[in-house]
Amino acid sequence: MDQNALKRAAAQAALEEVVEGAVVGVGTGSTANFFIDGLAQMRDRIAGAVASSEATAARLRGHGIAVLDLNDVTTIPVYVDGADEINARLEMIKGGGGALTREKIVAAVAERFVCVADESKQVGVLGRFPLPVEVIPMAQAHVARQVVRLGGEPRLREGFVTDNGNLILDVHGLAIDDAVVLESKLDHVTGVVTNGLFARRPADVLLLATPGGVRRITRG
Ligand code: 5RP
Repeated sequence: MDQNALKRAAAQAALEEVVEGAVVGVGTGSTANFFIDGLAQMRDRIAGAVASSEATAARLRGHGIAVLDLNDVTTIPVYVDGADEINARLEMIKGGGGALTREKIVAAVAERFVCVADESKQVGVLGRFPLPVEVIPMAQAHVARQVVRLGGEPRLREGFVTDNGNLILDVHGLAIDDAVVLESKLDHVTGVVTNGLFARRPADVLLLATPGGVRRITRG
């Protein structure tokens, strides 16, 4: 089974988590795209979707799924999104696709975060995947210096601008023992919009696709 088949299997399993008649939050990336494609089959049974990126909004609309403004929505029972890494506490690194800020906003509103991932995303310690940090352009050099002080090696994601008009620093060389602490430290650097650690608000459910089937893991 190749990685795409595993991603599709996790995304398919997530359709069962969707609350009928309600708004669903939708993440960004290739696994989320499989979820969107599946969601099209049940578009008449949901109240619409809140998108975590322009790319996701376009794909949802392409399937005839109503895309709602988050400011017009009070409740999102379920948010479905992928991850770049996820640990046993269901803390994640996200933002490989650069959509981390909107993903974190939708996740903050959602009652339940369902992470969809193939087994390659499961790790013991977060940090092998470079940690994305979204920064206000004029603060890029300042934030980079502070990241070095925290032990990381920041690299500008060349030629990339986020949906919010900002830059991404991908931070290499971190072994993240305490993700909650590092998430807060990075968020407190002036000029940082968001960082890709989802530890203060981890996933509630992980649908982990393996060649033997999709495992449903809940946060203990
Ligand atoms: C995008 C993300 C994605 O969820 C993450 O990069 C995983 O992507 P994929 O499903 O393509 O492996 O955080 O910003």
